[in-house]
Amino acid sequence: MPEAAGQGGGSLVIASNRLPFDYDRGPHGLERRPSPGGLVSALDPVLRKRGGCWIGWPGSGVRPGDDVQGPDDPYRIVPIHLDDVEVERYYRDCSNRSLWPLFHSLPGRAAFDPESWDVYHRVNARFAESLLTEVNDGPLLWVHDYHLMLVPEMVRAARPQRTIAFFLHVPFPSYDLFTLLPRHEELLRGILGSHLVGFQIPGDVKNFLECAERCLGAEVDRSAESVRFEGRTIRVGAFPIGIDYSRFEAFALSAPAAAQRRERVILGADRLDYTKGIAQRIQAMERLLLQHPEHIEQVTLVQIAVPSRCQVAEYQELKCEIDELVGRVNGRFATASWSPIQYLYRSIGHDRLAEMYRDADVALVTPLRDGMNLVAKEFAACQVDDPGVLVLSRFAGAADVMAEALLVNPYDLEGTAEALHQALCMDEPERRRRMTALRTREAENDVHSWVDTLLRTATESRRG
Ligand code: UDP
Ligand code: G6P
Repeated sequence: MPEAAGQGGGSLVIASNRLPFDYDRGPHGLERRPSPGGLVSALDPVLRKRGGCWIGWPGSGVRPGDDVQGPDDPYRIVPIHLDDVEVERYYRDCSNRSLWPLFHSLPGRAAFDPESWDVYHRVNARFAESLLTEVNDGPLLWVHDYHLMLVPEMVRAARPQRTIAFFLHVPFPSYDLFTLLPRHEELLRGILGSHLVGFQIPGDVKNFLECAERCLGAEVDRSAESVRFEGRTIRVGAFPIGIDYSRFEAFALSAPAAAQRRERVILGADRLDYTKGIAQRIQAMERLLLQHPEHIEQVTLVQIAVPSRCQVAEYQELKCEIDELVGRVNGRFATASWSPIQYLYRSIGHDRLAEMYRDADVALVTPLRDGMNLVAKEFAACQVDDPGVLVLSRFAGAADVMAEALLVNPYDLEGTAEALHQALCMDEPERRRRMTALRTREAENDVHSWVDTLLRTATESRRG
């Protein structure tokens, strides 16, 4: 049962583009499955524990009037319906084709058009309205991610007495990149409607403060981590997100014992997204086999690629590119009884995923840029047997807090191949030493303690 309001700080109100479930109309009516991505993985256990309300888009399969609430849901789900034009302009174009690539420092992939901005504004206004009409209580209104950056200011303007927090799950780009966005000042003003603005790592905070200072002339206090803007003080800080550690660990402990496998396993698990560096990872695997042929027939890269944003052209092209690459590398090295790459184009449930994490020898987590990356943390939580090794991109936020991983530059194929070799050859005491440190830190800084810290800071920032 969720904690009663008042005990764990009261129930929460969350607004994010994604709801915890993605709905589809099937032969038996509306069907739902967990939504993809780290935001939902992290926030769902929080709301399950605390109770409250989650406002978001249920997907195109839902019509106004449909009942999206499950009989046993421990919190309220409030759908925001989007029409086809809104899905295309606000979600696919503005959120996924402008903001997503730019915030991940890939401006060459970003496209901007004024029409999609107008629809982004309109949908943000709809979310703000829903926050104001649906919710009368709760310690704060908590807005998440790049889809909803205008919402905090819209809510504040209408209801200045409500406490508003904003958390960005993805990186915040440098001034030079951020100002490529034609409407960047409006985005900053939108975010600064909050009392508390949270980012994943200190580098994001630094970028944001520089943008607030240079673009809006806001007064920035770097040591106090605050911004003075239009007569208000906004607290800005880094709050690296955690995972529901005990849930993943419990899945790993209770999963069936590992089947005997001839080869050792390197595991990758990502949405099929160009920021995740999946193509570079496959090429690094190819290099490993070229440079260290002793691994041929001894190791397999199991790559899970969860279908994502399939209506967006860049993601369709990526799917073709990965299909081709996997085929090429398998064709080059496979023998009658072994393939170097096992490619699973689907989503795996957390219970089974925990088992795969547990049984992997190496996790290969090599995004080109990532806000945090929860897969790296989930892998550590699931290392309950013989400890494996985490090979992690230095461009993931997780690298800031997981120093015992083998850190790599994902663009450096040779370096990544060497790190893989080192991971596969690492002796047990060193693997255990590194993994114990990683596990201890993630257990202490899980998603529940992350929320406690954020709520405490939001309350303090309101008082201060
Ligand atoms: N995930 C999953 N099934 C899969 C692969 C991944 O449920 O087959 C989940 C994974 O457990 C993690 C999330 O997807 O919680 C990915 O989060 P991450 O922060 O790594 O990346 P994001 O997708 O948010 O960019
Ligand atoms: C990342 C974003 C989330 C998003 C998720 C899945 O984790 O930070 O906001 O929900 O990817 O992407 P999608 O476009 O399917 O919601």
